[in-house]
Amino acid sequence: MAKLLITGGRKLSGEVKVQGSKNSTLPILAATLLCEDESVLYNCPKLSDVDASIRILRYLGCKAQRSDNTLIVDTSNITKSDIPHDLMREMRSSIIFLGVLIARCGRAKMSLPGGCELGPRPIDLHLSALRQMGIEITEQHGELECVVNDFIKPSKIALSFPSVGATENVMLTAVKAKGTTIITNAAREPEITDLADFLNSCGARITGAGESTIVIEGVSKLHGCCHSIIPDRIVAATLMSAIAATSSSVTLDGVILSHLCALIPVFEQAGCELSYKEGKLSVSAPYKLRSPKLIRTMPYPGFPTDAQAPIMAMTCKSNGLTVFVENIFESRYKHVDELNRLGANIKVEGKVAVVDGVKHLSGANVQALDLRGGAALIVAALSAQGQTEILGLPYLERGYEDFEVVLESLGADIKKI
Ligand code: UD1
Repeated sequence: MAKLLITGGRKLSGEVKVQGSKNSTLPILAATLLCEDESVLYNCPKLSDVDASIRILRYLGCKAQRSDNTLIVDTSNITKSDIPHDLMREMRSSIIFLGVLIARCGRAKMSLPGGCELGPRPIDLHLSALRQMGIEITEQHGELECVVNDFIKPSKIALSFPSVGATENVMLTAVKAKGTTIITNAAREPEITDLADFLNSCGARITGAGESTIVIEGVSKLHGCCHSIIPDRIVAATLMSAIAATSSSVTLDGVILSHLCALIPVFEQAGCELSYKEGKLSVSAPYKLRSPKLIRTMPYPGFPTDAQAPIMAMTCKSNGLTVFVENIFESRYKHVDELNRLGANIKVEGKVAVVDGVKHLSGANVQALDLRGGAALIVAALSAQGQTEILGLPYLERGYEDFEVVLESLGADIKKI
């Protein structure tokens, strides 16, 4: 079983390029199915979740080929409209193929995604919106079967929560509707805007992405295009946490500053100096961090739930108390016990976690139990005295491309064995 060995206490320095966004790449890869053509995607991270999406595309009959961080996908011929259970199980977000299969084939069959390490992951918002668009959906024995009767009906979809996945599934279905679909209370995440930019380059007519109301005028045909995936704001946040936790100074290349709008104030409260010029963000951390007071996870543009764990790891050694309130997922404090094994002082009550900064963390054997929790353990281990062994690397490989290589290039003492 692979593990990471980290000897903490080394300062990081230099410059590093931030990888492309996982959460943009996955829906855009699914969206290529709508093009019935070749699309070229640049800046695609090499991740196991991306590989899982490619396996689904190939199963459906598409051609996909990778050359470093460029993916060329040809979806001109597809032979299936179902996704088997084993492929669905590899990645919960494969539910994003639902909308595209409906729009491309007029039908879709796949297993229900079920819960995951973050707790229950319902898809009721996806399904009720699709039903509103005239899709007939049957759920039986954990299987989902969807059929379009006549055509995809344009609708006014009011989401009761700005779900990222539901917004994406509705957009992907509505691009082929007969008329105009309006989504209100839509998710506003940058990955939604990236998906709309990709689809518009393919001939779709989407306005308002990035705002609460998205308007999608259906078109009869899309074509392929070349598109560059946006940088991963959560990987940027993780690197910033590692820089801050180790009192280091590093420049991140390929950052879109507005995507970090809720994160910047947290690092400033912690005493970090930040400067930004032409896509490069320099982060310089003080010897001792101050504790940010209150961090509440919210839909974008609020503080991202995906950054909660790495930033919590950063606060473990800061001066004072930080209160975290996790408002998006039920089971998103699995890293807390592991951080406490490294000497942190964190107490959890329901959706609230209180971090009381300690003087030192010390190396221990710990286990990643989910993707961002695993990243948090790396951040803590880099700032701990002595050696930490981290198991559970498959979680990390879902979202971080060659993370140990990236950190080693900045001077960290980190090895994968
Ligand atoms: C996406 C991201 C994930 C991020 C999350 C929130 C991808 C591949 N994943 O996940 O990294 O943590 O956004 O920013 O982009 N919900 C329902 N019913 C639904 C759908 C969602 O109750 O039909 C609830 C979920 O249980 C959760 C909340 O809404 O509590 C947010 O979920 P959602 O925004 O849909 O997240 P994902 O798209 O799954």
